[in-house]
Amino acid sequence: MAGEQSPEAEAELEACLTAAYAVSSPDDNRDLYAKWAATYDQFLDSNRYIAARHVAEIFKERWSSRAGAVLDAGCGTGRVGLELARMGVAPIDGVDISPEMLAEARSLSRPDGETVYRSLVVADLTGIIDVESDSYPGVVSCGAFTQGHLGPDVLAELLRVARPGAAGVIAVNSSVFDTNGFRDRFERYAADGVIEGLEVMQRKSWEGADGSEPTRMAHIAAFSVA
Ligand SMILES: C[S@@+](CC[C@H](N)C(=O)[O-])C[C@H]1O[C@@H](n2cnc3c(N)ncnc32)[C@H](O)[C@@H]1O
Repeated sequence: MAGEQSPEAEAELEACLTAAYAVSSPDDNRDLYAKWAATYDQFLDSNRYIAARHVAEIFKERWSSRAGAVLDAGCGTGRVGLELARMGVAPIDGVDISPEMLAEARSLSRPDGETVYRSLVVADLTGIIDVESDSYPGVVSCGAFTQGHLGPDVLAELLRVARPGAAGVIAVNSSVFDTNGFRDRFERYAADGVIEGLEVMQRKSWEGADGSEPTRMAHIAAFSVA
């Protein structure tokens, strides 16, 4: 990675990303994030994590303030929610498999004293979540579609709970966007008329990334639900 990181900080980032990408099942994810939750935000800050801000900015451009609630899938400690709240987007609901990560998100508040998230629910996104179809006019996700975490099959569940006309902004780690079939899945949804206006943008996930390492980049798919 380019930039001003010390060799020690760079080694720590690499070690954490290697551990995070070594998981392969929902249980692995529960265990990983149970251990990581208390220090996760500090880790993101010291390594200048910017993916959540990109997702929030891209979403805000496509969002009508009168539209209703946004679902943040794999919300973790709430980095996307925090960015959305700063931009005046509300209400925001979060789902995540890790109760420990959600406990961190629960402590976040907006400048007006309201909580950043209206509701936070423990749910495994590889299955059917307890949300009615066509519920959300906005769906976002950042950091959860990556190596060993969520695969492209989970997109169907997010599309199920999204309302027709909903704005969707889903970040996928660049290292798996093509190899794990995300690009094909988004393009098939577009060709089949399930989603419209598909746009895929690549952004840095970490401010110091120089663009040469796909694991430090994100492909961000933006679309509206047909
Ligand atoms: C790298 S973190 C990203 C968190 C947050 N969105 C961010 O940008 O910082 C990945 C998140 O995905 C969640 N996750 C992993 N597998 C999951 C699953 N099967 N269902 C729901 N959430 C899952 C983890 O618990 C974790 O909070």
